[in-house]
Amino acid sequence: MYYPEHIIETIRERSDIVALISEYTTLTKKGNSYTGLCPFHNEKTPSFSVSEEKQLYYCFGCGAGGNTVTFLMQKENMTFPEAIKYLAERENIELDELALSQDEIQKNQKRQRLLNVIKEAAKFFYFSLRDTKNEEIMHYLIERNVSIEMIKQFGLGYSPSDYNILYKYLQEKGYDDDTLMESGLFLKSKKGGFIYDRFASRLIFPIFDVSKKVIAFGGRVTDGSMPKYLNSPENILFNKSYTLYGLNFAKATSSNYYILVEGYMDVIAMHQAGFTQTIASLGTAFTSSHAKLLKRYTKEVVIMYDSDSAGINATLRAIPILRNEGIKVRVLQLKSGKDPDEYLKKYGKEHLMELIKGAKADIWFEISRFELKYDLKIPEQKVMFLQEVAGRLSEIPSTIEQAIYIDEICDTYQIESSAFKAEVNNNYKKIKHIYSTKDSQAHPKGNRQAVSTEVIFLSTIYHYPHIVKQVKQYITPDMFEGDLLKDLAKEIFKAAAEHNEINMMYFTARYPESTEQNIISHIMMHKDERYEEQTILHKMVLENIKRLKGNYLGKKMNETKDAIEKQNLLFQKKALDKLYIDFING
Ligand code: GTP
Ligand code: MN
Repeated sequence: MYYPEHIIETIRERSDIVALISEYTTLTKKGNSYTGLCPFHNEKTPSFSVSEEKQLYYCFGCGAGGNTVTFLMQKENMTFPEAIKYLAERENIELDELALSQDEIQKNQKRQRLLNVIKEAAKFFYFSLRDTKNEEIMHYLIERNVSIEMIKQFGLGYSPSDYNILYKYLQEKGYDDDTLMESGLFLKSKKGGFIYDRFASRLIFPIFDVSKKVIAFGGRVTDGSMPKYLNSPENILFNKSYTLYGLNFAKATSSNYYILVEGYMDVIAMHQAGFTQTIASLGTAFTSSHAKLLKRYTKEVVIMYDSDSAGINATLRAIPILRNEGIKVRVLQLKSGKDPDEYLKKYGKEHLMELIKGAKADIWFEISRFELKYDLKIPEQKVMFLQEVAGRLSEIPSTIEQAIYIDEICDTYQIESSAFKAEVNNNYKKIKHIYSTKDSQAHPKGNRQAVSTEVIFLSTIYHYPHIVKQVKQYITPDMFEGDLLKDLAKEIFKAAAEHNEINMMYFTARYPESTEQNIISHIMMHKDERYEEQTILHKMVLENIKRLKGNYLGKKMNETKDAIEKQNLLFQKKALDKLYIDFING
């Protein structure tokens, strides 16, 4: 959903950042700002600061920073519109239809129409399953041990075999072909162009979003034909990467971990057995969007995929995705029975409960996979194995966790712990090096964001505005990289010249992304006190002018085709190398 700038401005203006953040950490007033322990990382002495005047927060320890909206995005994993909505409700601001653009209103109406069609279809399927004509489908479910309660709870249904019975039914209800086609419930034959039911003759699994609305369907054959499962195609309601089957129920449980399985039937069997915190991605790979969604509800996930090689590979892929979102992972590999559904049928829920309780951290699963590649009786292979393990351990951000694993590994594989520790540390240094040379996108979450020299330069100009006069003689805002920095430079130059503050509202509305707000708050909140010393400040400014202008001239030279212009630029570039600015006298 898109909110116009004036709405965002109103919300920002009226929301109180100090009150909001005080719900997460204790803030004490110190001079112009409030300080406290950072809610984004563990610390013992406060390095987190909140400015009421600028409506920004910034952590000198971990670099987290932004405004009320980004705070909610980072802390509560809300999306931008969700954060806006949350703040609006908090401040009693009406976000009614009036606030939406014409485009948005139309999109909402379309969404609503699709939701209605899908709801009608779900009801139709549900009652078809109860129709005595289709009792063999009900028998199939009973045969597979699915209880009547689960059939009801998950809204299971059946799409009758008559090829277009649902189409005719919905057409009679007055839905037009465009809406019906968009719902994903129908297909058009290539030859005759006639429309038929996509899920005909299939057992139906309605797919719910977290607010318990049906947004799509999965359909399974009951006669062994292919493909076994079909899903609705993606549309404006349904995005597979943002949907987890069972999440609408799981989110109501109070378990402190979730269980991730592969299939529809596994979810249902697990819920039936009382593991109501079970969810599945819908026959697609588990994505980082799934992990982001999950993170809102839980801090720990037990992966319990099928025991075949596809399941093992999917587990190995899901582990780093979950970990990257800061979710703790344990893995349960079922040794007998293909999947949780079959396991439950064979051994019962008490057995499974024991296994889940005993499921070990992801790292042990990964190590057990490494081990299969080597013959540990051969010393050279054992070395390679342990090197691979050390590499993996070095990626663990918590040193305590690392130390525990190191001990256990040294114990298990009979190696000397100081040597192994050194190996882990070696790897760690290599990794750090790689990260520090890549852009900030490559940083694992939670790590300090890389701040570009341009950001630091702008921040310095902002906090020491008296240097603007000199800077302006050499630097123009368009020499900075990207729209945000160009815009910020323009405003900072202007504000400094006029002895004014920056127009923050413009930046909140125009640059809503977390990464952008992080840059803004870094610039405005991070005052580097070292530059109080004028000689150090001047040196810094001079270096940055040379670098920034040098890059700019270099780029211009590459772009221009005019020989004289090129010569002129080269001349300027040479002069720049000799530049010395007398800051004191301007
Ligand atoms: P049962 O075979 O009924 O026990 O279902 P299951 O959930 O155990 O299925 P399986 O382990 O074979 O597959 C796991 C999940 O992958 C399913 O629940 C589906 O979401 C998906 N899936 C399986 N087969 C297909 C297929 O042929 N097409 C698509 N699109 N998805 C499939
Ligand atoms: Mn199964």
